[in-house]
Amino acid sequence: MASDLLARIRLNGDVPRHVAVIMDGNGRWARQRGLPRHLGHREGMKSVREAIEGSVDAGIEILTLFAFSTENWQRPAREVSALMGLLQRYARKEREELRRQGVEVHVLGELDRVDPGTRQAVEAIVEGTRGGDRLRLNLMISYGGREEIVRAARELAARVREGALAPSQIDESLFQSSLFTAGVPDPDLLIRTSGEYRISNFLLWQLAYTEIHISPVLWPDFNREHLWEAVEDYQRRERRFGRVSAT
Ligand code: IPE
Ligand code: IPE
Ligand code: MG
Repeated sequence: MASDLLARIRLNGDVPRHVAVIMDGNGRWARQRGLPRHLGHREGMKSVREAIEGSVDAGIEILTLFAFSTENWQRPAREVSALMGLLQRYARKEREELRRQGVEVHVLGELDRVDPGTRQAVEAIVEGTRGGDRLRLNLMISYGGREEIVRAARELAARVREGALAPSQIDESLFQSSLFTAGVPDPDLLIRTSGEYRISNFLLWQLAYTEIHISPVLWPDFNREHLWEAVEDYQRRERRFGRVSAT
């Protein structure tokens, strides 16, 4: 039973502090039903709610959701605008509820490329949920791992040219603080849905030692129990970080 699973992972104690999710399979979910792709994306919004509430229930502190990648801009214009419309609606509709649940929303990515209506809506949800102390939710929008690294390098190079920074001062910690995820601990667990075994340019720097759980479930069918199953799988792992086993 679902509540047993939740009790079990909580009792185990080693709940991942930060969980990142590549929410994949909306298009296939729709195709299996003979529906247009955008209806798969719409259905996927319910799973976003499930993942958030399931994270709060499990005691996860940070949830990072890959909502739209740099490469997704190359999808047909109709699909891109449907996705932006959904994001905008989500941000407007859920703001109050997220605030009530104690969820603090952060939006990370190249927002300059996002249309003004959607940008305003996501800025408003960030503003309206500030101070939430039960869960930090990072919505990754117009985000790409390589682009993030290049941006950080460019920013650091500019500071060197200004004379504000010496090349020898650039270390992993300074580099980390130049990424969109500055100050956020690396994910402990990465979940990818729809059975695809790849990273698709997500959090390239941050996933260095993250445990990976691939779920066969298509994102619109993903619910909180699937999230807890992934957490239970994580709890069976032994994280070595390149060192030798403790036993
Ligand atoms: C994930 O579902 C949502 C986004 C990438 C925005 P997809 O749209 O990639 O669905 P599939 O992979 O085609 O099934
Ligand atoms: C990754 O899924 C991006 C998001 C979930 C937002 P994609 O469906 O875009 O990735 P590929 O094309 O299967 O690698
Ligand atoms: Mg996909």
